[in-house]
Amino acid sequence: MIFDPITVCNLELQNRFVRSATHEFMAEKDGKPTSRLGDLYEELAKGEVGMIITGYSYALPGGQSDIYQQGIYDDRFIEPYLEITERVHRYKSKIVLQIVHGGRQATTSEAYPVPVAPSAVKDGHAAVMPREMTEQEIMKMIEAFTKAAVRAKKAGFDGVQLHCAHGFLLSNFISPYTNVRTDRWGGSVENRARIVTEIVGCIQEQAGADFPVLVKMNATDGFRPGSQKAELGITISQAAETAKFLEKAGVCAIEVSGGISEAGAVTIRTAITSPVKEAYFKEYSKAIKKAVNIPVMLVGGIRSLPVMEYLLEEGFSDLISMSRAFICEPDLVLRLKSEDAKKTRCQSCNLCFDLEGVRCNFEFNRNSSD
Ligand SMILES: Cc1cc2nc3c(=O)[nH]c(=O)nc-3n(C[C@H](O)[C@H](O)[C@H](O)COP(=O)(O)O)c2cc1C
Repeated sequence: MIFDPITVCNLELQNRFVRSATHEFMAEKDGKPTSRLGDLYEELAKGEVGMIITGYSYALPGGQSDIYQQGIYDDRFIEPYLEITERVHRYKSKIVLQIVHGGRQATTSEAYPVPVAPSAVKDGHAAVMPREMTEQEIMKMIEAFTKAAVRAKKAGFDGVQLHCAHGFLLSNFISPYTNVRTDRWGGSVENRARIVTEIVGCIQEQAGADFPVLVKMNATDGFRPGSQKAELGITISQAAETAKFLEKAGVCAIEVSGGISEAGAVTIRTAITSPVKEAYFKEYSKAIKKAVNIPVMLVGGIRSLPVMEYLLEEGFSDLISMSRAFICEPDLVLRLKSEDAKKTRCQSCNLCFDLEGVRCNFEFNRNSSD
């Protein structure tokens, strides 16, 4: 099943493998994409990855969260991105640009000393108090995401993915822990999702209703169950309701993830040493899949072929999304297809965060048996 083609967002994918968005640390300081990104995506395309989602690309200069992060805030980035998408399209893979604003997890700098967020809820992890956005700033943000998507289309991307996960701006709006507004941008699930549904509507108006808009969303903030913060955070039923609003607005596929920085190592778990530890958000994706009719992608600790097949067959997910396994092995799909392997060599050690460019720094392990 996993190697069978599937149509998602009107895109014909050669199989059900998705490279989940992965910050590559390969852009220039101002966010301009480099040919190194093209090299990496081309390698994934040669490796027959059905859909490649780029690293998170910031829609406004103040929305950056990490060094060497790619940007999409200016028209001058269209040309270098176009060179990259053309390289990918020599193969059968599709490529989707992930768009983000850092929100309360944005990097502070002289130019941007205070991060913006739906509400002034202090980030215990970064010890920063963000500033509540004004109505006018929210409208400008919607415009920035829309312009970013239009640029992505011009640059040859097959679609965009709005990053509504991991504690960045759009997930700040969706979670009641970080959004305590009492206007039309806060309160009910519908209000908290409004910034995203507005962005989707504006993109469809300006990039065309057939230009795919995907979402990666948090189904949990990731706080320890029973803790005070967990009580304040998003519940699975709220996440499922949010997904319904996104579907209604025109989102064509949802990737399910979880965790914000403040909650600790939730998104990118280590020590995935057995099949039962794989796919750690699978109950969330199952609940969201039940709530919507659009395809659902699951990410988080998926490592072995039997688990992948199980997730697809048992209705946990329609596609299998992975980040670290593809850092470790861009040719993973080919290796799994050749049947000499049943799982990735990725050790989930997280040494892949490398300022000189994302890479597997656990190479010495790569000759171990499967
Ligand atoms: C180096 C690195 C960079 C990441 N950058 C992003 C990103 O830009 N956007 C995003 O949504 N998730 C990002 N993630 C999270 C992954 O997409 C994924 O959700 C997480 O790693 C769990 O999946 P995995 O076990 O397959 O790695 C990143 C993960 C890693 C390891």
